[in-house]
Amino acid sequence: LAPRHLMSIGDLQPSEFSSLVRNAAARKQAVKAGQAPTSLTTSLTGKTVAMMFSKRSTRTRVSTEAAVTILGGHPMFLGKDDIQLGVNESLYDTSVVISSMTSCMVARVGPHSDVTTLAQHSSVPVINALSDDFHPLQTIADFLTIHEAFPSSKGSDSGLGLNGLKAAWVGDSNNVLFDLAIGCVKMGVDISVASPKGYGIPDSMKQLILSAAKGVSSPGKLLETTVPEEAIKDADVLVTDTWISMGQESEKKKRLDAFAGYQITNDLAKRGGAKEGWKFMHCLPRHPEEVADEVFYSPRSLVFPEAENRLWAAVSALEGFVVNKGRL
Ligand code: CP
Ligand code: NVA
Repeated sequence: LAPRHLMSIGDLQPSEFSSLVRNAAARKQAVKAGQAPTSLTTSLTGKTVAMMFSKRSTRTRVSTEAAVTILGGHPMFLGKDDIQLGVNESLYDTSVVISSMTSCMVARVGPHSDVTTLAQHSSVPVINALSDDFHPLQTIADFLTIHEAFPSSKGSDSGLGLNGLKAAWVGDSNNVLFDLAIGCVKMGVDISVASPKGYGIPDSMKQLILSAAKGVSSPGKLLETTVPEEAIKDADVLVTDTWISMGQESEKKKRLDAFAGYQITNDLAKRGGAKEGWKFMHCLPRHPEEVADEVFYSPRSLVFPEAENRLWAAVSALEGFVVNKGRL
């Protein structure tokens, strides 16, 4: 039987997505309550998880390695200078060989087709650890963070009780946004996106995000604008990411010019009319251009719990896809 892979939040039914988030929360709670991490389960004992990263990483690498350790397995980090992939060997050959010796591949790539090609030819589950299009592990952690920050918001049927919340994304339309937006639509969270002209959501991606509403009784709505204040109106949580993603370094000057005026500041939040108790999120790594210190290091900021939640998201995803073989 072909293994089930995690390429994007779009692969998941709303109930499957919320169960991944809930399991992440349960694992976190148990450990915070004093349970030894290794007592959670030893379900990856004797198993190796290959981590094939063609780009840098702090959170994804550390959280995945730590999560595999918590589950009793062995994380094997393979950076771009460690294996033949991309230089001397095809994705097909690499996938067949590595999957024949390990129990899971966690891959960080450039083009999204690289991770889907790995998955297509793999005999074990493949988890996308960031591609140019999606970042599902980040989105699981982000929804755990939102779930923790808005415990009293009660919803009807989203599975996480988040219906009616509003997220505002101000900045570049990128991989982190795309999976976040799909998660929002599925969980009944409205999401408004403000990006400069020319940096909005590509049409094909917009269709994909909107199609996440299928079968959801009250899906979150997607709104797009070029005006940050418009996006921020009545938002519960403001979110952004770097304006220059990995691989876009040569566009730095052009991008800094294009995004002038999109920095998240207290003044912008006030002018836009964010909700009084608004919170701030950012997947990290952060650069000062996209958010001012006064927000990033303020009590409104959830960025460090959000980063820590990457660990529990990784534990949950590994349990879901490797231990439970995609039965979420
Ligand atoms: N948020 C995130 O994926 O960070 P890293 O690039 O450090 O893994
Ligand atoms: N958008 C960023 C996310 C890094 C976690 C990038 O692709 O570089």
